[in-house]
Amino acid sequence: DLEKLKIELASSIREFPDFPQKGILFKDIMPIFQKPQLVTNMCVAIAAHAVAEIPVPVDAVAGLEARGFLFGPQIAAILNVPFIPIRKQGKLPGKTVRATYVKEYGEDVVEVQSDALKPGAKVMIVDDLLATGGTMKAAIEVIQKAGGDVAEAFCIIELTALKGRDVLLDTVPVFTLLSF
Ligand code: PRP
Repeated sequence: DLEKLKIELASSIREFPDFPQKGILFKDIMPIFQKPQLVTNMCVAIAAHAVAEIPVPVDAVAGLEARGFLFGPQIAAILNVPFIPIRKQGKLPGKTVRATYVKEYGEDVVEVQSDALKPGAKVMIVDDLLATGGTMKAAIEVIQKAGGDVAEAFCIIELTALKGRDVLLDTVPVFTLLSF
């Protein structure tokens, strides 16, 4: 069940103080991917959540580089819908749309291919972690620019003290598995 899964996920996250810079307690999700059965169970549970709790059928799963690429394609495959990559600037070929956001250490840009989505497609955006919400906010913006309609912003982990949820709630529903 979901509570058991959450406990196993939480115990599979490692913390690294002062990474990537001083004062940041980095949550490393990579140990989850050492456990293939846990990865499968997690993706099945997220897909089941999407079917049961997102009020519209999801037409595509969009994953954020880099860690959204680790499990987004598996969720998309279970839902039998396309996976759309949201990448950092300059990585995607062809015509793209973009959104800019501010990080502690400067500006960053995310891109999606202009023709990645059917107009009005209902999109579930997935990433590993919601901190300030800046990255997810830009992801929502870029999906909208590509013609998509964001049905949910999903993250495995939410750092509640940083209030990323508040930055997003006016725009789209937010769902996270683990809160710290
Ligand atoms: C991390 C994380 C999220 C983002 C969350 O990515 O994977 O994408 O930060 O932070 P925010 O809510 O404050 O915007 P990172 O910037 O480390 O990029 P990477 O996944 O490409 O390493």
